[in-house]
Order: sequence, then C-alpha cells, then structure tokens
Amino acid sequence: MLEHLRYADGALHLLDQRVLPLEERWIVCESPAEVARAITDMVVRGAPAIGVAAAYGMAMAAAQGLDLEKTRALLLASRPTAVNLRWALERLAACSAERMLEEALEIHREDVAINRAIGEAGAELLPDGAQVYHHCNTGTLATGGWGTALGIIRSAHARGKLRQVWVGETRPYLQGARLTAYELLVESIPCALVTDSTAASLMASGRVDAVLVGCDRVAANGDTANKIGTLGLAVLAKHFGVPFYVAMPLSTLDARCPDGSQIPIELRGAEEVRGYRDTLWAPPVEVHNPAFDVTPAALITGWVTERGLWSPTAG
Ligand code: MRU
Repeated sequence: MLEHLRYADGALHLLDQRVLPLEERWIVCESPAEVARAITDMVVRGAPAIGVAAAYGMAMAAAQGLDLEKTRALLLASRPTAVNLRWALERLAACSAERMLEEALEIHREDVAINRAIGEAGAELLPDGAQVYHHCNTGTLATGGWGTALGIIRSAHARGKLRQVWVGETRPYLQGARLTAYELLVESIPCALVTDSTAASLMASGRVDAVLVGCDRVAANGDTANKIGTLGLAVLAKHFGVPFYVAMPLSTLDARCPDGSQIPIELRGAEEVRGYRDTLWAPPVEVHNPAFDVTPAALITGWVTERGLWSPTAG
C-alpha cells in the first residue's frame, strides 16, 4: 500500500498532495502549527487523513510541552467541513498527555481497519462486471490507508467483480485526475479518466452501475457534505436510476448536526479556479469556489460504514 503519512522522530512526514503525481515530495512538520498549516494548504487532505494528521499534531504538542487547549483550537480551525478533525481532537482531549501518541497511532491503525471493513461491505453491493463512477479522492491518500469509496473499489477488484472505474477529474483541485488516477494506476485497477461533465452521458448510455463517493460530514438526518460536484452526480444518478452509495466511516457521522443546512462549507481561493499552479487560463474575474456541497439524504441509496449499511432513521 502506498505510504503518505507517518509519524517518526517526533515529526509528521507527509507526502505533499499538492504536487502529486508530477512530483513525489515529502514535507516534514515539526510543530503542531506546521501540521495545521499542512492541513489548510492541502498538503494532506481527505476527511479521515485530516483527522489522523490532527491527532499526531496533538501528540506532538504533548511531547513538546505546548499548551494543549491552544493547540486544539489551532488544529480545529485548520479546515471547517470535515468533522473527522473535531472527532479526532475530541478523542485526544479525553487522554492524558502521556497517552496522546499511543492514541494517535491507534486512530491511524483503526482507520485502516475501518476502511477495509467498508471495502468488504461495499463490494457486496456491486454486481459482477461492475462499472462504477468515482468522485474526488477517497483512497489511501485521503485516509489513514486503503480508502473508503476507493476501498470498495479495491475490494471489488480483488474479488474480480470490477470491470471499469470512471474517474471523475473533480474540478477545480483535480483530486480525481491527480490522486485517484495515480492510486488506481499504481494498483493496475482498470480505469478511465473523464471530465466531470461526462458523467451524465455515461449514465444515460447505461455505462454506470453505481456511483461511489466519500463524505466529509453526514448530518443526523443523512444529508451528506462531500466534494463539490457530489450533489450534481446524485441528481443525475436519481434521474437515471443508478444506485448512489456514500462510503462513511462512523467518524464522519455528526450526530450533533441535525441536517445539512448546519454543515459549514469551506470557501477556497480564486486561484484554484482561474488556473493550476503557475498556469492561469481565466482573467482576474471574481470567483465563487465552495469546496463542498450537501446532497440531501433522499438522493442517497445507502451509506456504507464499517458496521454495514447505516440509515438515518435507524440512527
Ligand atoms: O478537499 P478535500 O480533498 O479534502 O476533499 C475530500 C473529499 O471531499 C473526500 O471525498 C472526503 O474527504 C472523503 S475521503 C475518504
């Protein structure tokens, strides 16, 4: 399995996801402030991976004798939408300073096991010879390892059930084109990269058996925040009668949030939409760049968790 996040010698080592797949560059965070900056800047991204990184940030604060309350507030403010960040920080807050590193390591180990369980449960739901559409990046890079929706794809592939993954490029940050395509290539899983606007015609022509996505925060009623574009895919899937599954570690369920209207949606910078890295293709017009959208529960066929299918009514 690809390695992208490791705690060693009191520092957090991160494979820099801003420059993948063109460069494999590691960033070393030696303080919690550097961890918070790496989360904000998307060196590390994806809801479960953000939670794991923040847990290591707290462990680092404990080891360095820093103010734990201030560190928690700093890390919590690093990105607003993924609830795994708050979840991990609350787990660390319940431990003594001496136990924090062990707890962070445990969160990391657990996340891999959770993803494998989601993968197995989700693979059951797919038909033989499945063609699936995947949005954003939900793989090893987005988690402690293995992946959630991409974990389902890995498990289905291992069972010989998977014919094709349509990899949505995921404008504007291109997590699909840059990161998911990279992970699938490394594992020789059959895939084709498509622009986001190709999804409708693929579904219309019967070439999608299921849509698989991850999530950043699921409200108690099942409304689901995930990467911008997820809502559009869910509307299309409903129209064309395609099952729409959300891979959801239970750490992404926010039982304190009653519905999607309460989920904070991150707005990101104009430069992500105007171009990529040094290449700009748009003039300096105003840009609206929400990083996430909220899909109403009614458009979702099922939420696949480490304990099997979850449903909002069953809680
Ligand atoms: O902005 P990102 O790249 O952090 O957004 C990631 C997503 O929206 C993922 O789909 C989600 O975090 C689930 S990752 C298992």
